Amino acid sequence: MEKKIAVIGLGYVGLPLAVEFAKQYPTVGFDINGPRVDELTNGHDRTLEVEDEDLKEVIASDLIRMEKNGRGLHCTTALGDIESSNFYVVTVPTPTDKNKRPVLTPLVKASESVGKVLKKGDYVIYESTVYPGVTEDECVPVLEQVSGLKLNEDFFVGYSPERINPGDKERTVTKILKVTSGSTPESAQVIDELYKSVITAGTHLAPTIKVAEASKVIENSQRDINIAFVNELAKIFNKLEIDTNAVLEAAGTKWNFLPFKPGLVGGHCIGVDPYYLAQKAQESGYYPEIILAGRRINDSMGSFVASEIVKKMVQKDIPVKEAKALLLGFTFKENCPDVRNTRVIDIYHDLIEFGLDVTVFDPWVDKEEVFSEYGISVVNDFSHLGQEYSTIVLAVGHNQFLEIDIDNLKAKNSVVFDIKGFLPQTIIDARL
Ligand SMILES: NC(=O)c1ccc[n+]([C@@H]2O[C@H](COP(=O)([O-])OP(=O)(O)OC[C@H]3O[C@@H](n4cnc5c(N)ncnc54)[C@H](O)[C@@H]3O)[C@@H](O)[C@H]2O)c1
Repeated sequence: MEKKIAVIGLGYVGLPLAVEFAKQYPTVGFDINGPRVDELTNGHDRTLEVEDEDLKEVIASDLIRMEKNGRGLHCTTALGDIESSNFYVVTVPTPTDKNKRPVLTPLVKASESVGKVLKKGDYVIYESTVYPGVTEDECVPVLEQVSGLKLNEDFFVGYSPERINPGDKERTVTKILKVTSGSTPESAQVIDELYKSVITAGTHLAPTIKVAEASKVIENSQRDINIAFVNELAKIFNKLEIDTNAVLEAAGTKWNFLPFKPGLVGGHCIGVDPYYLAQKAQESGYYPEIILAGRRINDSMGSFVASEIVKKMVQKDIPVKEAKALLLGFTFKENCPDVRNTRVIDIYHDLIEFGLDVTVFDPWVDKEEVFSEYGISVVNDFSHLGQEYSTIVLAVGHNQFLEIDIDNLKAKNSVVFDIKGFLPQTIIDARL
């Protein structure tokens, strides 16, 4: 069978995958965001996951010619452009609402779109992170209803969780082993073969779709809980006036001590996925103790850091009200422009509440995006920074921050707080 791929949702996950498929198969990238499609068609990826020259190598503005060539990536907002595809790979967002409940709307909408073009013999593979059961219990009914076709008679589904790590230039999509699954043993084999053809690290074929779904959501939940443990340690050792990083370094000399570091847990994966698992657990009558405790601890870290900074300022007789504060870093992790669900915002709000005058500096961010998402103005040009800051907080470990002369930015009497254990200990006053 000739494979024609459609990737639905061209974000951090969908685009790198679509580019890999495009090297071997005619691939259409479908997204509802017109400006995003235009930007990709012009050969630029603002998420910086795909280099412009790699994108330009596969991008095809002409759909018919791309199909004739047998490879290439055509990006579009037109549903008609994916109607001749036979493998639909869905990579749309799975966020939570303000009450931390899963929002499946993008998945349902994407399933409706695919349902409209679904044909006999097609495959639909979901990659978005979900709780076990979403593919079969939430998405398949939409596909069946909209298409009028029947699962496992007319079409097949699969689930293959994405494990990409934004900003990581070493472990790129083809180098990360991929879990695959399908709605029948035969369709699972077909789906596994498809991924094997592009993922050089290989695949792991899970026995069922629910196993594959559960495997992804526990990966991030496990990280969340492990980080929550070291965050709790940071709070304890802070009270005991022991340096947490030094304790972890010493404990880490044992072969089976896990090397987690304290810090803020933001982003759209580790800080979100455990709520998907928790929701499903509660629906099934089990209240998850550890998962939700981990979430609470990690969500409390921004406030904890802000109050530690203010305590240190008071100890050093630095007036807090209207003191100039500099937050270094705003993204949810280092060396990437992703500001989704960044917890640096918690430190910002708490310091503002304490009456400080806060400047946020992050050379990676898009200022307009931050303003529209969070309503705050961020400086992304170093030359626009002032001096004489009463407190400087290293919030994100961007490589560029190693070049900054902190001494030059701080007031004579000041507090330098390092959340990431990133700066030389000689220039800081405290760290998590
Ligand atoms: N970013 C990561 O590091 C990462 C890693 C592993 C898994 N995931 C999971 O992958 C999924 C996608 O995440 P992401 O970071 O790529 O999201 P993203 O927000 O970067 O991209 C999603 C894209 O989907 C598009 N979209 C939304 N609804 C659509 C629809 N109905 N039809 C077509 N396009 C639609 C959006 O316009 C956007 O371009 C999520 O479930 C996430 O949890 C993300």
